[in-house]
Amino acid sequence: MNIRIPITKPFLQPIEEYRAYVTDICEREWLTNDGPLVQQPEERLQECLGVENLLYVSNGTTALQFDIESLKLECEIITPPFSYIATTSSIVWEGCWPVFADIDPGSLNLDPSLFEESAIPAISAIPTTHTIGNPCDISSILKVAKKHNLKVKFDAPHCFGTTYMGESVYGFGDISTTSFHTTKVFQTVEGGAVITNDHEYFSRMDYMHNFGRYGPVKYRGVGINGKNSEFHAVMGLCNLKHANEILTVRKRQSHFYDRLLRDLNTRKPDVLPDSVVNHSHSPLIFESGSAVIESQRRLEKANVQTRGLFFSKPGKAGVCGTINNLRMQRTGPKSTLPSTLPRASAG
Ligand SMILES: Cc1ncc(COP(=O)(O)O)c(C=O)c1O
Repeated sequence: MNIRIPITKPFLQPIEEYRAYVTDICEREWLTNDGPLVQQPEERLQECLGVENLLYVSNGTTALQFDIESLKLECEIITPPFSYIATTSSIVWEGCWPVFADIDPGSLNLDPSLFEESAIPAISAIPTTHTIGNPCDISSILKVAKKHNLKVKFDAPHCFGTTYMGESVYGFGDISTTSFHTTKVFQTVEGGAVITNDHEYFSRMDYMHNFGRYGPVKYRGVGINGKNSEFHAVMGLCNLKHANEILTVRKRQSHFYDRLLRDLNTRKPDVLPDSVVNHSHSPLIFESGSAVIESQRRLEKANVQTRGLFFSKPGKAGVCGTINNLRMQRTGPKSTLPSTLPRASAG
């Protein structure tokens, strides 16, 4: 396919800005392992997002694994099936059980009213996604979590610049995670972050992302390699200088699409009155699956690239069981939920 319009294009700053940093790195011959540049995006992002602790890690998927480890989650974890595969696969990878609660067809976000009373005793946490940059009903989720003593973690890779009640969404819940993958509004080629206001959680993740190491030869617990390099950090430092411009252009492009596509038989996801979205995407909800397929066919014919990202059918099923084929891949603790729960739809 000769692609005329790709699914996504990374923001790239003028090459001279990047080149100056790269020359510096090469002269220093310090490419990774806690170099002088890798901490700078952390400080600047903390300031720019108004959050207390932000740890820059290798990608958004390891960030999800670190938060499960740091919160010491076990057993069942409520999560929406409508998200990227990493939201659920990280739960399974960590030996826990994903328990699917359905989304609200209006906002496409987890619907807290559906899981408020069901299956709660077995659940240890609610990790949920702010679907394609649209904040979920954070207040209601936090209320349910408080009532049942559950941890809340938000998977928020599309939320750079998204706010809820006037603050960055990254400041809510026990931990938020994000991705700085090249497809995201703010990108460092590969990369991600864990964000928390809790110093204990933060300190655990800090050790974990560097093999558990402190000092040259001492280790605290089991860690893994979740570090990032000087080159990735520099891409972030350069792009951060253009953050306002990136967000402004996204907004303008999104409004342009809205005007062009307003006669289609589609609707946009509902946004809560207290939320401001960052226009990371321009989502449209079609009336049927066949309408989506037909639109994809026509776009492809015009060399406009399309790709499915989140798969699942919104409905009103309430709390469901785990997806079978994911469960096959890891042997976690035995689920304590009744086997008669409905199965979530995976496609
Ligand atoms: C909702 C969600 N969670 C997690 C990830 C994983 O992020 P990464 O690609 O940086 O590992 C993605 C990637 O797009 C995502 O959309």
